[in-house]
Amino acid sequence: MQSLTFKLAAILFLAALAVGVSPVVLAEDENSASEVDQRQAKMLAVACYNCHGTDGSYGEDGVPAIAGVPSSILRAQLLAFKAGQMPNTTVMNRLVGGYSEAELAVLADYFADKSPADADDASE
Ligand code: HEC
Repeated sequence: MQSLTFKLAAILFLAALAVGVSPVVLAEDENSASEVDQRQAKMLAVACYNCHGTDGSYGEDGVPAIAGVPSSILRAQLLAFKAGQMPNTTVMNRLVGGYSEAELAVLADYFADKSPADADDASE
C-alpha cells in the first residue's frame, strides 16, 4: 500500500515536471533564432572593432573600411580569406579560420548594415 502511494506520487511528480518544463523549453526554442543571431552578431563583431573600428568604418593604415559594403561582397571576401584565395592578406586569412561559414555570413550582414557615412570620422 505504501509503495503504491509512493509510486503514484513519483508518477505525478514526473508528470508535473514534464508538463511544467516542456512548455518553457518549447517557448525558448521558438524565438531563440533571431535573438541569438542578434546577440551573437554583436559578440562576433567585437573581435573586429580593434582594427575596423566599432562600426567597421575605420579605413586607414592598410585596414579597409567595411561599413555599408553589401553583405554579399563582405561574405565573399571573408570566405575567400578562409579558403586562402584572397591576395595580399596580412591578418585576415589567419583571423577568419576560427569562424564557421554561418558566422561569417552573420558578420557580413552586421557590417553591411552599418553606415559608411561614419567613415569620415575615422579619416580625421
Ligand atoms: C588585426 C586587425 C584586424 C582585425 C581584428 C580584423 N581585421 Fe579585417 N582586415 C584587416 C586588414 C589589415 C585587412 C586587409 C587584408 C589583410 O591584410 O589581411 C582586412 C580586410 C578585411 C575585409 C576585406 C575588405 C576589403 O575591402 O578587402 C573584410 C571583409 C574584413 N577585413 C572583415 C573583418 C571582420 C568581419 C573582422 C572580425 C571577425 C575583421 N575583419 C577583423 C585587419 C583586421
